[in-house]
Amino acid sequence: MVKICCIGAGYVGGPTMAVIALKCPSIEVVVVDISVNRINSWNSDQLPIYEPGLDDVVKECRGRNLFFSTDVEKHVYEADIIFVSVNTPTKTRGLGAGKAADLTYWESAAWMIADVSKSDKIVVEKSTVPVKTAEAIEKILNHNSKGIHFSILSNPEFLAEGTAIQDLLKPDRVLIGGRETPEGQKAVQALKEVYAHWVPEDRIIISNLWSAELAKLVANAFLAQRISSVNAVSALCEATGADVTEVAYSVGKDSRIGPKFLNASVGFGGSCFQKDILNLVYICESNGLAEVANYWKQVIKINDYQKNRFVNRVVSSMFNTVSGKKIAVLGFAFKKDTGDTRETPAIDVCKGLLGDNATISIYDPRVTEDQIQRDLAMNKFDWDHPIHLQSLSPTSVKKVRVTWDAYEAANGAHGVCILTEWDEFKQLDYQRIYDNMQKPAFIFDGRNVIDPEKLREIGFIVYSIGRPLNPWLKNLSAAS
Ligand code: UDX
Ligand code: ADP
Repeated sequence: MVKICCIGAGYVGGPTMAVIALKCPSIEVVVVDISVNRINSWNSDQLPIYEPGLDDVVKECRGRNLFFSTDVEKHVYEADIIFVSVNTPTKTRGLGAGKAADLTYWESAAWMIADVSKSDKIVVEKSTVPVKTAEAIEKILNHNSKGIHFSILSNPEFLAEGTAIQDLLKPDRVLIGGRETPEGQKAVQALKEVYAHWVPEDRIIISNLWSAELAKLVANAFLAQRISSVNAVSALCEATGADVTEVAYSVGKDSRIGPKFLNASVGFGGSCFQKDILNLVYICESNGLAEVANYWKQVIKINDYQKNRFVNRVVSSMFNTVSGKKIAVLGFAFKKDTGDTRETPAIDVCKGLLGDNATISIYDPRVTEDQIQRDLAMNKFDWDHPIHLQSLSPTSVKKVRVTWDAYEAANGAHGVCILTEWDEFKQLDYQRIYDNMQKPAFIFDGRNVIDPEKLREIGFIVYSIGRPLNPWLKNLSAAS
């Protein structure tokens, strides 16, 4: 029986291994992690991450050919194929600070693999890593190999949160990068056989190691670039009276462009986009390609601009100050159908509002108060480190309330900000919300989920990203 071990039971490792176990009953899959809490949750009814469809897959396979364990060394020792899916934070100090990936976790996993292995292994990079990481890992493994052969593969994961199970069951493509040597190609074939259990052969792409590593960064950079492009256009729409949803619809009808990833928003978030672009920028700079680096940097600058612009809209609409005013925030996750808050635009928006001395009341159907308070107190980039290494600065805890009810959050508020596109926000009783708010009642839709005309009829002063402005807002500047 082929044995797979995955180091790192996070958003990538957990769901990916669960689907491999589901589709390959003849393979034993063990997911290991140093975090005892995480492994305990994976072994309980309350999985550590919320992902539609994940519970069913785990229930079907756990105890059959899917296991979660903290005994990292034992399972690495026993495995034929080792996936590595550990954190790769952005460096906050030293060479490349603010851009380069910190490979501490990766490196310590590699040393451990070299230490405990007594048989040949295939080691697969699953978490996104900077280009040429495989080369570094290969050096660590093969210089300490005691005669054992390690083949390194890059097999980047393209799943998106909220649709992870569907993405894994029906991937657009599976990408496997390997060395062009006979051993390298043998390892590629072995991994291909795993995916071939359910992925059609023409969707499995084979490339060299560096192309696979770079393709992952570039795919995320392209996706983020589309969002920054439409968000840049949203500012122009507000200035000129065009409607970004109409512009995006027309543009997306061109089959060369396509309709996806053209929703204007308060900004993109998530664990990948910013981190991967910063990585790309760093790689470009390291190779002396300053113009290319600046080109990609601009995608992040527009994203920061969009979050600032939103805060400025809120503050300038409400008589240039939100000091002492209650602002209800609906949605804190970085997108709908996930409880994940990593790099969510809600953090920057809330910090901006708190900076202007607002009191905020937050409701998200999936995010806990503890998580929100941590996020608002955490330093930039610390989220990708284990909890005990996250430094927290003093917060405005007293200025932030978290509730489990949207109506309670909005009760007595001067303004409402919608920051995540949860479906339930389309169905809320906005008349009831309006009746219980201070007047004039403002609503700022950062995700274009509400119908602005209907809400204006109720009496709200409405701001929707990139859509024609209320007369109230027309002469107020949102530029930072
Ligand atoms: C992304 C990539 O899609 C995935 O392939 C990769 O493996 C990991 O990074 P993820 O971060 O889970 O996945 O979510 P994604 O759906 O890409 O959304 C990222 C952010 O962009 C979210 O904050 C989302 O709200 C925002 N977004 C997305 C927009 O603002 N507008 C859009 O049109 C689409
Ligand atoms: P991703 O979103 O890429 O899956 P996460 O941060 O959710 O990333 O998960 C990474 C996991 O890797 C964490 O649960 C962390 O505890 C685990 N991890 C980091 N280093 C090691 C290691 N050396 N051995 C085992 N697990 C590790």
